[in-house]
Amino acid sequence: MTATIIDGKAYAQGLRARIAAAVGTLAGQGVTPGLAVVIVGEDPASQLYVKNKARQTVEVGMRSFEHTLPASTSEAELLALVATLNADPAVDGILVQLPLPKQIDAQKVIEAIDPAKDVDGFHPINAGRLMTGVPGLVSCTPLGCLLLAQSVRRDLSGLNAVVVGRSNIVGKPMAQLLIAQSCTVTVAHSRTRDLPAVCRNADLLVAAVGRPEMVRGDWIKPGAIVIDVGINRVPNPAAGEGKTRVVGDVAYAEAVKVASAITPVPGGVGPMTIACLLRNTLEAACLRRG
Ligand code: GUN
Repeated sequence: MTATIIDGKAYAQGLRARIAAAVGTLAGQGVTPGLAVVIVGEDPASQLYVKNKARQTVEVGMRSFEHTLPASTSEAELLALVATLNADPAVDGILVQLPLPKQIDAQKVIEAIDPAKDVDGFHPINAGRLMTGVPGLVSCTPLGCLLLAQSVRRDLSGLNAVVVGRSNIVGKPMAQLLIAQSCTVTVAHSRTRDLPAVCRNADLLVAAVGRPEMVRGDWIKPGAIVIDVGINRVPNPAAGEGKTRVVGDVAYAEAVKVASAITPVPGGVGPMTIACLLRNTLEAACLRRG
């Protein structure tokens, strides 16, 4: 079997087009959704990610507010900025880019964001809403994974789903989303015994561990849907000294021969995260402004 390649780039493009159309309708009612992105420090990867977010926000017709703070910013200064953004009526969504410098308690900052503007879905109120099946803002990467899985199989109910990784940002909300779709969910992690055997039971496998090509082809049940969240930069000596390439958490060349559908890296889950962030910003604007 050769797997269907799930084209996250194309799906994200379609999603952004639908968001742009909805934003156009809101503009007719005098509403322009606004997304504030806060970055502390000069991490180049974070800066690139934030630049992409800002560009795509403007492309769909929303307003983008960027706040770049020095790495020496204190927790009190960041909390003061969050309070200002919470009170700003032009701001519908607030995203504070993680990781934060060590002098700042990230959890404290997350909990300071107004849950109605928490487009990352990281606030415990939104995490709790997801867990209890109450509508709320859902973490972008798991939401993107769900949309991609549903793009190849609309009804996921009854499937054995295995989520490898238990982070608050991906693994845990992913598990909750799949429970809500009536999957039978197993959350595996670094202490899981016989991880390959656990993965082989998965009709739907979501890999979110941050370990390059850890999930091998013989860990995959023939015909499974494989969603690879990993974005790992590894050396690529074939391209020359010092060159790198990006690989997922799944050994793609092996897995593509066994799965029925798989997301590539890059071009799978990655493009969906920002598209879902824009979707959350639109949703937050609609809910806040009635
Ligand atoms: N850093 C890497 N990914 C993310 C994300 O989705 N949200 C935030 N806030 N920070 C990140």
